[in-house]
Amino acid sequence: MMDGHIWINGAWEKTTNFTELIAPYTGKVIGNVAKATKEDVQRAIEGAEIAFSSFKKWTAYDRAELLYKVVEILRERKEELARILSEEAGKPLKAARAEYDRTIATYQFSAEAAKQIQGETIPMDAAPGAGGRIGWTRREAIGVVSAISPFNFPANLIAHKLGPAFAVGNTVVLKPSSATPRSALVLAEIFKQAGLPDGALQIVTGSGSELSEVLTTHPAVKKVTFTGSVPVGLSIKEKIGLRKITLELGSNSALIVEPGVPLNKIIKRCVDGAFGFAGQVCISLQRIYVQESIYTEFVQLFTEETRNLIVGDPLNETTDISAMINPKEVSRIREWIEEAIEQGANVATGGDFTERTMSPTVLTNVTKEMSVVCKEVFAPIVSVLPYKNLNEAIDLVNDSDFGLNAGIFTPNIMDAMHATNEIQAGAVIINDIPTFRIDNMPYGGVKMSGYGREGVKYAVEEMTELKLISMKTSFD
Ligand code: SIN
Repeated sequence: MMDGHIWINGAWEKTTNFTELIAPYTGKVIGNVAKATKEDVQRAIEGAEIAFSSFKKWTAYDRAELLYKVVEILRERKEELARILSEEAGKPLKAARAEYDRTIATYQFSAEAAKQIQGETIPMDAAPGAGGRIGWTRREAIGVVSAISPFNFPANLIAHKLGPAFAVGNTVVLKPSSATPRSALVLAEIFKQAGLPDGALQIVTGSGSELSEVLTTHPAVKKVTFTGSVPVGLSIKEKIGLRKITLELGSNSALIVEPGVPLNKIIKRCVDGAFGFAGQVCISLQRIYVQESIYTEFVQLFTEETRNLIVGDPLNETTDISAMINPKEVSRIREWIEEAIEQGANVATGGDFTERTMSPTVLTNVTKEMSVVCKEVFAPIVSVLPYKNLNEAIDLVNDSDFGLNAGIFTPNIMDAMHATNEIQAGAVIINDIPTFRIDNMPYGGVKMSGYGREGVKYAVEEMTELKLISMKTSFD
């Protein structure tokens, strides 16, 4: 039913225009993606505004129960949903299942957060002349949230937008990536079954640039939450005026590896961080800075481990890496690799392409000017670079337009703390890869990596308005 439809006011609607949904690995057409019009989006927003007037009156208990019910349904349907995700995103099945485990956790954190939205009392008599008053704050729902989500985590990054929004009583117009619409559209009936009122979740698909104008500037929209590319994020920020906004954009995440770390214990983890979902992850490990005394050994171990990865059909149980999201991405990456090789880079392993896949690739002898180092590569490519001392490594990490997560492996607590002070990033991950993320931690970047924070508790703050109430306790 959901194929080629949008979901407005609790019902499926067929659109006049469609695009084809193509499975990234097989290249086969597996369905249609509805192309909503601007008028459809306007209607969706207006319906969400009407739904807000009653949904905002739900109690915290009822909002939490709704989200617990979603958790229950997702648990029951996990395998079926992971297969839908795997096929449309080209994400290996084991990674798709892991994404659903995280998605379930995110909705569960959201259910718990619904019951923990608190204010504080303000010591009003601390200001001169303000005795005889009490003051307190509370967090209030804001209204309609426009949520624009990417293809790379089509279940969990949506959960990070819907979960906190419903936890506080907002309503949402969701526009998922046209590459992965099904993982979003399945939520329509799941939320309806869980008891969400019609109109509180609207799902529209179609061309991002045409629809984003309405999604970001309609007067009823009070907040825009976007995960995607830097240019789109910047253009949204220019348009939104005084609305609230959260932007999760890209990065070229870096890791420092200091001497004294048992390399055999960290190599597998580093390989997973570099190549999970073919590197199409905002915090994918892209630059590894290794102290020169252990550089050769690190490159050798890392390369050997990389060669164990299996490239293939995402629906095969053994596949580690599957297709890039579309062949255009493969061409882009091919050009970047060719450019790097022309400029002197060595391919330690990988560098093989088909029309739709790229083998996991390790580059050495790279320079910071190469696209594979200074831009967000969003592909299964990692560069390993040597450094002399920790301060040099920190400077290299910071020599980037981005600053999402960064990592450092070191046995020395003082060095670790020094790195946390000096590294410019939204998070510094000590003794793990920058790709580490759990769903209750704050997540977001500095510099071109974004604006604001997700992570359920932090998204709740960014999806509510703080109101102060002041009361005189007598008429004197
Ligand atoms: C992202 O690619 O922005 C999300 C990464 C994650 O949630 O692990």
